[in-house]
Parts: sequence; structure tokens; C-alpha cells
Amino acid sequence: MKIKRIEHIGIAVKSLENDAPFWKHVLNISHRGTEIVEREGVTTDIYDTGSGKVELLESLRDDSPIAAFIDKRGAGVHHICFEVENIHDAITELIDAGIEVIYKEPRKGAEGFLVTFIHPKSTGGVLVELAQKPD
Ligand code: CO
Repeated sequence: MKIKRIEHIGIAVKSLENDAPFWKHVLNISHRGTEIVEREGVTTDIYDTGSGKVELLESLRDDSPIAAFIDKRGAGVHHICFEVENIHDAITELIDAGIEVIYKEPRKGAEGFLVTFIHPKSTGGVLVELAQKPD
């Protein structure tokens, strides 16, 4: 597959209200927007360094994947997202290689990207997201 760049780093936070000001005002990374991704049960607060974004992820409900992650591992880096040229080709390639892909059909994520995730057990322990930019 063709990885184009690191698209974003996803960071699980307990509270955007408490944790976003560091990214916004201390690091002074440009804020792109805040978006609710209902299906994933998160509010994502997106910052852009100009060469890769930071996405702060706050859980919307107790049974969301981010809530489960924070319960188990605590707040912190949750996933790394790479932009790919063609997500369907990437998924086929991974499945053929015996890698555990979490969404076999890509889903629509924040900012309209088509996304899937690779299970950490196939990557050395890191949740990896692949995303294709919307046209
Ligand atoms: Co992400």
C-alpha cells in the first residue's frame, strides 16, 4: 500500500475542557474544529500543525471505545493515523497478509475521511488507523 503521511495522532482525554487548553494555548497549534462522531461515541477536537494533526478524543458515553481505553490504560496516546491513497486496496492487502483489520468496510470518520483500524496485536501494540481523504 502507499502511505502518504501521518494524518493525525489520536489522544484520549478525560475532559476537553480541562485538557484542550494546553494544545490550543500553550503549544498554540491551530484549531481546525470540533466534531461529534456519534458512531464512535466521541467528540473530536482537531488541531493542525501543518504537517500532521492532533485529535483529542473525549468520550460521549460510558460504553464508547474511548471510555473503555481510558478505564484500562488511562488517558494518553490512543492511535496513530496514516493517510493512504486507497483505503479499499489497503484493506484487501492487509487481509491477504493475515493482519487483523477492525472495519473490513471502511467507515466515515472525522472530516469525511474513510477509515479503518488495524488491531494492536498485529502492529506491536499500537492501534493504527488508516484514512483516505475525501474527494
Ligand atoms: Co483517528
